[in-house]
Amino acid sequence: MKVPPLGSDLPVLLNAARIEARIGELAADISRDYQGRTPHLVGVLKGAWVFMADLVRHVSIHCTVDFLSIQSYGSGTTSSGEVKITKDLDVSIQGRDVLVVEDILDTGRTYNYLREVLGAHGPASLKLAALLDKHSRRIIPVTADYVGFVIPDVFVVGYGLDFDQKYRNLADIHHLPSP
Ligand code: IMP
Ligand code: MG
Repeated sequence: MKVPPLGSDLPVLLNAARIEARIGELAADISRDYQGRTPHLVGVLKGAWVFMADLVRHVSIHCTVDFLSIQSYGSGTTSSGEVKITKDLDVSIQGRDVLVVEDILDTGRTYNYLREVLGAHGPASLKLAALLDKHSRRIIPVTADYVGFVIPDVFVVGYGLDFDQKYRNLADIHHLPSP
């Protein structure tokens, strides 16, 4: 019998089947848009690793992958916007069609920082795929080129997303009510 992981009694916002279906659509869009090219997918750790793993398995053209890790200062459920790269890319992105893969776009501060840093390394193109978009929370005007779901201003966990590093292992995306 499958034992439900801790926290799986939290209300479900998006279940695994819905997430998978939407990722199939995103991957089809990406495969079509990058036809004839080999996009370089850059996953932002740790939150995007589950999304990245599912996304690449639905992409039907050649692609390469890399990861970077960032730490954003801020506690609890809000990011301060101060971002630091704690694990850099392994290979150069110069001349590459870079597609950044993010778990969630919230205030836009993290991606605003990343696009500046990555843009300075001379990619042929730079785009963003975000599984979730909390559109109403945006502080910096950032839009993702591929968006899985626009969600309301609620804190979510699961499918890679954490609260205090926990809940990443939940298969569905859950709403974590404020304590
Ligand atoms: P931004 O810099 O405000 O756009 O925030 C992006 C980052 O904040 C994401 O990559 C997440 O790590 C984190 N984040 C924002 N909202 C949530 C949420 O609802 N659950 C978990 N992490 C979140
Ligand atoms: Mg996080």
